[in-house]
Amino acid sequence: MKSIRGATTVASDQPNEIRQAVKELLWEIAAKNQLKQDDIAFILFSNTADIRSLYPAKAAREAGFIMPALYSSAEPEIEGALPLCIRVLLLADGEGKGVPVYLREASRLRKDKFARFNVALDGPAGSGKSTIAKLLAAQYDILYLDTGAMYRACALKALRCEVSLDDARAVETLMEHTCLDIRYEGGKQATYLDGEDVSSQIRTPEVAGAASAVAAHACVRKKMVEMQRSIAAKQSCVLDGRDIGTEVLPHADFKFFLTASSAVRAKRRCEDLKAMGLAADFEEVKKQIEERDYRDAHRDISPLRQAEDACLIDTSDLSVDEVLLRIHAKIQEKI
Ligand code: DC
Repeated sequence: MKSIRGATTVASDQPNEIRQAVKELLWEIAAKNQLKQDDIAFILFSNTADIRSLYPAKAAREAGFIMPALYSSAEPEIEGALPLCIRVLLLADGEGKGVPVYLREASRLRKDKFARFNVALDGPAGSGKSTIAKLLAAQYDILYLDTGAMYRACALKALRCEVSLDDARAVETLMEHTCLDIRYEGGKQATYLDGEDVSSQIRTPEVAGAASAVAAHACVRKKMVEMQRSIAAKQSCVLDGRDIGTEVLPHADFKFFLTASSAVRAKRRCEDLKAMGLAADFEEVKKQIEERDYRDAHRDISPLRQAEDACLIDTSDLSVDEVLLRIHAKIQEKI
């Protein structure tokens, strides 16, 4: 079974208006979710108290929804609620998430579904950015762009070509002959370097360290930032990195800066490395993380920095769910 939500509004409390609005809403839900009538088990309506002339459930019967069980209830009067609003919850056969449908004025209820918005998630290595960004993007059903993967791919190329990471000229020439491509395969980001999927090869500590070094060069940042802005301009997305809120998307709708003590971050990184079957020595990982933080925060161009309007979250003593809850609360406050 899957549940599908939706809502619509009427211009006035007239039976004909209610009939028309309910029919339009149910047909749209059926079309968007490819449902036939006998796939629908149950339709539950609620309407604001200013709708009195016809039960939406009765309107649904009259619109030809004969098979499903129908139920209507009136909501209490709540100050500030969208007036003349009909909400619906539909239970239907099938797996996965249903496509919600919000029509007319009710589309204002779900700006997260209908408006384009970007979330900037910055912070040092191991602060929990990528875990949170992935979950957040999945919950809002929007794209997740891991910008660190892009710098890591550039670093992998430099390591493979044995180019000195500090040599700006050599890195620039290398960049001119580098083709980086971000694709989405099965809903997951895949990072392609010169046509090769390097998504797993870029996850080693060696590449992470090299990424921090190549990311300091203007030529690399210019190319990456252009790609990131062009991806973000096309759709709603969550971007995680170091300079998203300050440089890539200074006007992002939501900005968060995650941090955690270096010991907690090193512990998390060790767990990640062990899960990938790689060796991890806590003290060594902690040292690498601290060196990387220093380099990322002290480079001349777009250093790791909290944007003035970003919300700071220290994740040291918070669970993933707790961090997500805080972020959701901030987004819902404004959206
Ligand atoms: O987030 P990560 O560990 O995958 O990032 C690897 C390196 O890339 C990081 O140490 C600094 C650099 N980076 C950056 O400079 N700007 C970004 N937006 C993302 C990553």
